[in-house]
Amino acid sequence: VGYDLTTPALVVDDGAFRHNLDTMTAALPGGKLRPHVKAHKCTAIARRQYVNGHRSFTCATLREVEVMADRGLGDDLLLANEVLGARRLDRLVDAGSRITLVVDSPETVAAAAASAVREVLIDVRVGLMRCGVEPGEAGGLADLARSRGLEVRGVMGYEGQLMLVADRDERRRATESAMAGLLAAAADVGGDLVSGGGTGTYAENTWVDEVQAGSYALMDTAYAGLGLPFRQALFVLGTVISVSRTWAVADVGLKALGMDHGLPAIDGAEVVFCSDEHVTFTPADRRFAVGDHVLVHPAHVDPTVALHERMHLVDGARVLETWPVDMRGW
Ligand SMILES: Cc1ncc(COP(=O)(O)O)c(C=O)c1O
Repeated sequence: VGYDLTTPALVVDDGAFRHNLDTMTAALPGGKLRPHVKAHKCTAIARRQYVNGHRSFTCATLREVEVMADRGLGDDLLLANEVLGARRLDRLVDAGSRITLVVDSPETVAAAAASAVREVLIDVRVGLMRCGVEPGEAGGLADLARSRGLEVRGVMGYEGQLMLVADRDERRRATESAMAGLLAAAADVGGDLVSGGGTGTYAENTWVDEVQAGSYALMDTAYAGLGLPFRQALFVLGTVISVSRTWAVADVGLKALGMDHGLPAIDGAEVVFCSDEHVTFTPADRRFAVGDHVLVHPAHVDPTVALHERMHLVDGARVLETWPVDMRGW
């Protein structure tokens, strides 16, 4: 029996998904994991993580915070990204959600102070060319935040440049040196929370109090290369729409796949390239016919999910549940 889905369709393998959630919960139970929702943008998945014992979450956008809080998942939401429009969250704070912002400038401190949000973390740069203050500047920014009436819970530092370092020992060594800066900043800042890490360093980063991993729930081919104990749970289901003597074409193109980590993969085939609505692949040890379904493994989970309105939880070709990707947008 084939899939009864219009393609391209985002599908989640139930067995792999459960394995991933349970494996991570066993490694980092309860508050040791602050799951990042940006990887799945789906409150149905966040609720599964909540049921597994994780009550605090990481978000990347105001919209993610809003939707999580509106769905009753607002026990402790960290918006791990600089925002100037924090006042959008006032109604949620007033209604009882606990929201923490990160700040790395006087401007983001002022934006937080002007909102109903009372709690912040100082975002510290730990090697990624992105947000954060230098470790030596963290204490001064914490003083400024406190002078503006904010409570500083501690620090966060995301070592994103290390997530895909292939060698585990090298990843651990580099994480240790990145975290030395974060811990020095934490000593200056005060508070009791040190937040950081991700799927690539969840086992190596033993310096943070909580790990902000997100991709582990669904996985992608970039992370699969690290030999982590998580399984590929996310696929884009496609239909073969054309075949030649040497290649086949399915209806999963750039508009259905995040491609910043490279080409997707298809079991039993070599992917040649993608265009807007097509993936062209050369069958290796398998024959493909027009009308066949193919499972395309994305190279990067987050931007792939963000392109889809819904995802389907499947057991083989059987659809168990359909979940809206309800945290899409900004
Ligand atoms: C601030 C922050 N924390 C954590 C992560 C880790 O996410 P993942 O586990 O998906 O690598 C990310 C991903 O980009 C991030 O931006």
